[in-house]
Amino acid sequence: MLIGHNKKISLDRFIYKSLYDKDNGYYIKKNPFGKKGDFITSPNISVLFSEMISIWLISFWENLKKPKKINIIELGAGNGEMMSQIIKTLNNFSEINLSANFLILEKSPLLIKIQKTKIDKKKVGWIKNLKEIPKAPTIFLANEFFDAFPIKQFLMKNNNWYEKYVAYKKNKFEVCDQKVSSKIIEKYLGKDIKKEKFVEYSPSAMKFVNEIANFIFKNNGGLLMIDYGFTSGKMKNTLQSVEKHRQISFLENPYNSDITHLINFKMYKKEFANSNLKSLITTQGNFLIKLGILKRAEIISKNLQFSKKADIFYRIKRLIDAKHMGSLFKVLFVSKSKNNFNLGFK
Ligand SMILES: C[S@@+](CC[C@H](N)C(=O)[O-])C[C@H]1O[C@@H](n2cnc3c(N)ncnc32)[C@H](O)[C@@H]1O
Repeated sequence: MLIGHNKKISLDRFIYKSLYDKDNGYYIKKNPFGKKGDFITSPNISVLFSEMISIWLISFWENLKKPKKINIIELGAGNGEMMSQIIKTLNNFSEINLSANFLILEKSPLLIKIQKTKIDKKKVGWIKNLKEIPKAPTIFLANEFFDAFPIKQFLMKNNNWYEKYVAYKKNKFEVCDQKVSSKIIEKYLGKDIKKEKFVEYSPSAMKFVNEIANFIFKNNGGLLMIDYGFTSGKMKNTLQSVEKHRQISFLENPYNSDITHLINFKMYKKEFANSNLKSLITTQGNFLIKLGILKRAEIISKNLQFSKKADIFYRIKRLIDAKHMGSLFKVLFVSKSKNNFNLGFK
């Protein structure tokens, strides 16, 4: 049972249980990707997405002076599409291929099973937490990973802060508030709390960010994070839920719909800066174009019949066009402050 009758739980607890409850959680029992699922992600739209990430990976590894051992770790690998394409591409580049230790951090046992049917099991190690990563330069890849973390929301009313809770009454879920001390929010936002009347953040994502930041700071490497979100402006309510490719209320069908939110990239950048790491941000469209996705599409479609060529370009348009995923999706690259690598961000 998600919530007992006449009981309430905080919004982040509600989201966490809906998505990751060990028996009924959305990601625990369901493969949500693709036409027949609830949503589609970039690696499942076009293989060229993962190819561009692979090119970026090789160039960053070169920029890091080709370390003999490099961990390449995907956070939340979904159906395994991106990692399987990266491994295929890097197979053609023997030097990095010999250095790379491919890892996946995945929470869902069902998705791990699916990933293992797609990816050469001898090539990849599956880990349960960041402590298992061998100490070596590491490149973290996170496509639509952080939007799958639960969020808290707070609202200021009559100079008091209230936290959003979800209650279960008369067989229905409903939103309610609970008064909280501003100290709880201040812990995360510091002085910025004075500027806001509405606050949305994910304590668990921020904890995770800190762990990654410490790892990069100590061992070198970086994080390439791609997700939908915003880079400026005040905080806003971005909570949303998707089922069968349509938006529904997050209260309508928990356990069976994907509850998610937009990433506040400014907040992530600040969190990494607190750990002395540098962030570059651009749009997904810009990133993929700079990496040469259009040129690559020309090359592979040169001798194809018109319908196949049109399909390749239609898929790329979905990834790069501002009306589709090109501008809502952003790319964040985090590295040590002295690092000068900026491929895809110039
Ligand atoms: C929205 S899906 C994205 C999947 C994939 N990256 C893609 O682009 O297709 C989020 C993924 O992150 C996983 N996930 C969410 N929170 C996690 C956590 N704390 N640790 C590991 N995996 C997690 C989910 O199980 C799922 O595989």
